[in-house]
Amino acid sequence: MRAVDIIMKKRGGPGRPNGSELSREEIEFLIGGYVKGEIPEYQVSSWLMAVFFNGMTFAETGVLTDVMLKSGGVIDLSGIAGPFVDKHSTGGVGDKISLPLAPIVAALGVKDPMMSGRALGHTGGTLDKLESITGYRTGLSVPEFRDFIQKTGFAMTGQTKEIVPADRLLYALRDVTGTVESVPLITASILSKKVAEGADSLVFDVKCGTGAFMKNIDDAKRLAESLVGTGQAMGKKVVALITDMNEPLGDTVGNFLEIEETMDILEGKGPADVTELTLAIAAWMAVLGERAKTVAEGRSLAEKAVASGRAMELFLENVALQGGDAKKLLADRGKRRSAHRAEFRAASDGYIASIEAFKTGLAGVYLGVGRNRTEEAVCPEAGMILHKHKGDAVKKGDLIMEVYGKDEASLEPALKLIGEAVSYASERPAAGKLILGEITAV
Ligand code: URA
Repeated sequence: MRAVDIIMKKRGGPGRPNGSELSREEIEFLIGGYVKGEIPEYQVSSWLMAVFFNGMTFAETGVLTDVMLKSGGVIDLSGIAGPFVDKHSTGGVGDKISLPLAPIVAALGVKDPMMSGRALGHTGGTLDKLESITGYRTGLSVPEFRDFIQKTGFAMTGQTKEIVPADRLLYALRDVTGTVESVPLITASILSKKVAEGADSLVFDVKCGTGAFMKNIDDAKRLAESLVGTGQAMGKKVVALITDMNEPLGDTVGNFLEIEETMDILEGKGPADVTELTLAIAAWMAVLGERAKTVAEGRSLAEKAVASGRAMELFLENVALQGGDAKKLLADRGKRRSAHRAEFRAASDGYIASIEAFKTGLAGVYLGVGRNRTEEAVCPEAGMILHKHKGDAVKKGDLIMEVYGKDEASLEPALKLIGEAVSYASERPAAGKLILGEITAV
């Protein structure tokens, strides 16, 4: 078998413009060879682009997910009392929901074995956010992962050399080869991790809008159906919420900035949109974990976990367990900012018509929230604080965003993008819905 023949089969040609379905043997050959270092990145990049344009059948997506899953071991959670329920977002801007969610559901007795990713394209990454906490380690060994779940009900780790190594490699390669926005590649990436980490039930937050990989509702539905169908075929109970990602979520986009907002949410004083979505997902996780009979009951339990302070306590316990300096975290709150600062102010009187999430996310990449090359480090103190949102009235010169960059040079291109992201209207725009749809297989 040769990698180039597999690439050409997926690419297609005269009379076969959409390529052909690959067999399990072919997918195993390509992914296995890549993980072993026998197939070079340039061939895998080319294959990814062919999949991006020609897609995969439902069966092929299932095989790719299975092959990626089997590229490493799976986490054995036996001996720990469940239920194990996890959530995964398809990626957004200002989307820090995993961070407050895990301690909230842990407070309800739902165990969350969370395996997350890094910043991808214009979207932020849970691991990068967590690592902005001084000392916090996201490369947990399996015994540590198990131990921390037993102690606080959740643990946060990344793809490792042992667990889903194929996703660790493919995820980074897709990020820099323009091959992220593909239903089969996203499905296999997410589900291989989710099945490997040992969760019995899953809630997917499928983002839809300019700041998401799926820009319109039809594509978001296709991704939600693919995740639910493939997840169900792999024996999981699955719920997918399709949620709006046209505007950044919450008041912050960044790494440490989003950790600060996480603590606000856990103290019951977070922005309305992120709080709403966090509680809506927590409610479903409580139902899937059989801690609540209805979504309404799950929601009320989640609200109580925040109001009692228990969820915040668990968050800080997890920080300490994973090597983070919880004392410094609390002392740094509201203070740890990059010295390279700029302000974006309103260009005219009126209302904010939109703060377009994609361009805001891209501004974040320039600032150092995300990366342009796989080996690049992110800047913990970079990001944006949003003082205004869609629908807010503004006067010319009002502060819309504080902007923090990794260096002075990063500020100018970011400000230019923010200028393109922010638009104004003479009338207040109608508020859109946050949750656009729901697909369940429970
Ligand atoms: N999140 C993932 O884990 N993988 C993707 O491909 C996209 C979002």
